[in-house]
Amino acid sequence: MKIAVVGTGYVGLVTGTCFAETGNDVICVDIDIEKVEKMRAGVVPIYEPHLDVIFERNIKQNRLSFTTNLEEAVEQAQIIFLALPTPPGEDGSADLSYILGVAEELGKMIKEYKVIVDKSTVPVGTADKVKETIAKHANVDFDVVSNPEFLREGFAVDDFLKPDRVVVGTESAKARKVMEELYKPFVRQGNPIIFMDEKSAELTKYAANSFLATKITFMNEIANYCELIGANVDDVRRGMGTDTRIGNRFLFPGIGYGGSCFPKDVQALAKSGKETAYDFSIINSVMDVNHKQKYVLAEKVKAYFGSDLKGKKLALWGLAFKPDTDDIREAPALYMIDELTKAGAEITAFDPEAMDNVKALLGDKIKYASNQYEALEDADALLIATEWQVFRTPDFDRISDKLKAKVIFDGRNLYDLVDMRNKGYYYNSIGRRT
Ligand code: UGA
Repeated sequence: MKIAVVGTGYVGLVTGTCFAETGNDVICVDIDIEKVEKMRAGVVPIYEPHLDVIFERNIKQNRLSFTTNLEEAVEQAQIIFLALPTPPGEDGSADLSYILGVAEELGKMIKEYKVIVDKSTVPVGTADKVKETIAKHANVDFDVVSNPEFLREGFAVDDFLKPDRVVVGTESAKARKVMEELYKPFVRQGNPIIFMDEKSAELTKYAANSFLATKITFMNEIANYCELIGANVDDVRRGMGTDTRIGNRFLFPGIGYGGSCFPKDVQALAKSGKETAYDFSIINSVMDVNHKQKYVLAEKVKAYFGSDLKGKKLALWGLAFKPDTDDIREAPALYMIDELTKAGAEITAFDPEAMDNVKALLGDKIKYASNQYEALEDADALLIATEWQVFRTPDFDRISDKLKAKVIFDGRNLYDLVDMRNKGYYYNSIGRRT
């Protein structure tokens, strides 16, 4: 099939590359000329494990190409994916101007039947708006389909190629057939393509992300409570998660969810509820609790050293909002840094991938180490904000040699409590005894 993907951000790039990998001809469109030139030269503009290999292969085999010319791409394609940004506006609602802007242009360009697919996470009712916008100009038949993506950063290629399910919102039999054909290679193991109307598909995405954010937040509250009563959240989590109705995934407490998806989508669902006079009280509480949770580790540090941290040196492992990404959007580490530097602490940080992004954002507000052990030099304590694999089994002798005292605040529960006690550490983690 011939496919155009408009927008080469995270979603567009993974979508385009993975569709090329299953034998389709894919042309990706972006307005950023520099980026398009880089991609043509084989440079993947984002960090995502395994993407580079299939990206390169499909460019070489001429199934994946790039252009800044929307009209050229649209002319060739039977299916046009819209993977454009929908940033939150000041009031938390998703800004649709990019999507509707392209829809306007598409309306003027299409000369034969096309399937236009919303891939970005968009508020309920967007497919209708896209349809109306295109219809203002088009005088040929077309369909607008909602096909939300469920990729996780760090696992995007795998999630795309082997999805739990594919959700397709369309009531057009013609578009349904096209989408069925397109996704056939991805659902060979019996994982379903679930067809529904456009609005239900749009809401499915928000509901799924908000549910996952709620699951995490619920566990964070249980963890906070465990600390008060002296229970161990690891045991509670295992005890709960073995109930198949609950499931053992996404129950890990920590210092709050971050990233480009959960915070934005939870906020957008609350906002669209408000617009229809529906008060999503669970969703509102999730946002409140999550905001507080981002400061939990900083509060623990203050409780230990006192609220004035002048003269205290802190080592920070992890800046990205989660491992295997350089993404620092809504990263708990940033909130923590803000709070601790305000209290006078001096922070030296290390992250395997996200250092450049943090340098660009924070400059010399903190210091940067070239490896995880260098960050510890002469520090009063080690703080852990991201569960990168390299932090899981560190050399504890090296840690204790470098730190002034054996003090660790762990926002991701990486180490065993008994083990740390035996090693002589003051070890303060989430929802477990100190
Ligand atoms: C999330 C969803 O998992 C994807 O299905 C969805 O497609 C994507 O958003 C999106 O809407 O584009 P992502 O933001 O990449 O993916 O990251 P997750 O792995 O889901 O983690 C989100 C946050 O939850 C992270 O801050 C992570 O540290 C936190 N988390 C996750 C926990 O605190 N505990 C857990 O048990 C799991």
